[in-house]
Amino acid sequence: MEEGKSTINTGLRGVTVASTRISHVDGKAGKLIYRGYLVKDLAEAATYEEVAHLLLHDRLPQAEALEKFRRDLAGARAIPEGLIAAMAALPADTPPMDVLQAAVPLLAAYDRTLADPSLEAEQLRATRLVAKLATLVAAWHRIRQGLGPVAPDPDLGHAANFLYMLSGQRPESDVARFFDVALVLHAEHSFNASTFTARQVASTRAHLYAAVSAAVGSLSGELHGGANVRVMQMLKAIGSPEKVEAYITRILDEGQKIMGLGHAVYKVDDPRAHILAPMSQELGRRVGQPQWYEMSKLLEIKGKEAFKARKGIDIFVNVDFYSASLFYCMGIPIDLFTPVFAVSRISGWSAHVIEERFALAAPKPALYRPGSDYVGDYCGPAECAFVPLEKR
Ligand SMILES: CC(C)(COP(=O)(O)OP(=O)(O)OC[C@H]1O[C@@H](n2cnc3c(N)ncnc32)[C@H](O)[C@@H]1OP(=O)(O)O)[C@@H](O)C(=O)NCCC(=O)NCCS
Repeated sequence: MEEGKSTINTGLRGVTVASTRISHVDGKAGKLIYRGYLVKDLAEAATYEEVAHLLLHDRLPQAEALEKFRRDLAGARAIPEGLIAAMAALPADTPPMDVLQAAVPLLAAYDRTLADPSLEAEQLRATRLVAKLATLVAAWHRIRQGLGPVAPDPDLGHAANFLYMLSGQRPESDVARFFDVALVLHAEHSFNASTFTARQVASTRAHLYAAVSAAVGSLSGELHGGANVRVMQMLKAIGSPEKVEAYITRILDEGQKIMGLGHAVYKVDDPRAHILAPMSQELGRRVGQPQWYEMSKLLEIKGKEAFKARKGIDIFVNVDFYSASLFYCMGIPIDLFTPVFAVSRISGWSAHVIEERFALAAPKPALYRPGSDYVGDYCGPAECAFVPLEKR
């Protein structure tokens, strides 16, 4: 290393940038913890509303607080007519993540509380954004089909309401619960790419909507939230369980990636995958499409074996592996899988924006400003002599 130059941590791996009280990913033990609670316990017994409250307000709600939180969500689900008109003006084939990323900051135009810098106002803005993100995704799906948005039903919970607004059909209660569990599992995951993006934007003191819009853009990439789309496309391309092994061989021969396998932090199976897998199996059987789970299971087993044989290291399933077939069997269109991820992750992103701004954990966060190693060796060690336009 040259004198005066620092080590480059590509992708910021191994660099700790802040303290947080919000969540912890124990990649070696395969544990995910939201504010002290194991996600597997939350997935078993808590609703998404309770988890969103936990993330935004630092504690699980008691009955009265939960009732108020539900009322706040129900009261905030509608989106402004102007926004519906703006979406209706877009080409119908606009990718839903692009629509979402564009729509979120437009919500700021309708928010009259933006100038209020208090924690309570930010928590309320975040609650409203949790409510509205689901409506935005569902409304765009209706609009692009030439249909009118379905008005939210105040009697339905957050998960059931989303499925209702998407299809116009009230879901069966156990399907709604499967979706609720999936929302619980996707709500938060420490300093992943989109969350770090949200925090980084918030560190400039930009508002919540700007931070969330940037996070949506980050989530859209196929190495992050976009992986669940790629998993389902992969399953459809394979077509049937007997073709799984040949597919694995071809993909690894070509040096490509098997989507839904591998993780930047987990060195064992992602604990969320183990909760999603049985739901995918059960729902697949019920809707008469067991092949997606069967192919996924085979892909997991054979993919792990092939990876070990070739690289001598283990690889593990991540959250996107079984969520893909689960969402598909719920009738959710494939290009909405990543927006659905955002519909859940909005509570985690917002909690991080709040933490960034209100510094609930020490040390106090600061404006993110990493260094870089300039390798622009254009004119040797000296600076280039400027050449006027006519002499270049
Ligand atoms: C998530 C991901 C980007 C993590 O990448 P990473 O931190 O570089 O992972 P690792 O360091 O453990 O990778 C070790 C090796 O395995 C390879 N690898 C990792 N995941 C792989 C996969 N799904 N298929 C094939 N090879 C894979 C890497 O390319 C690397 O190979 P190399 O040493 O020859 O360069 C990567 O696993 C991936 O692209 N997975 C598929 C996409 C996906 O499911 N994303 C959702 C994440 S929640």
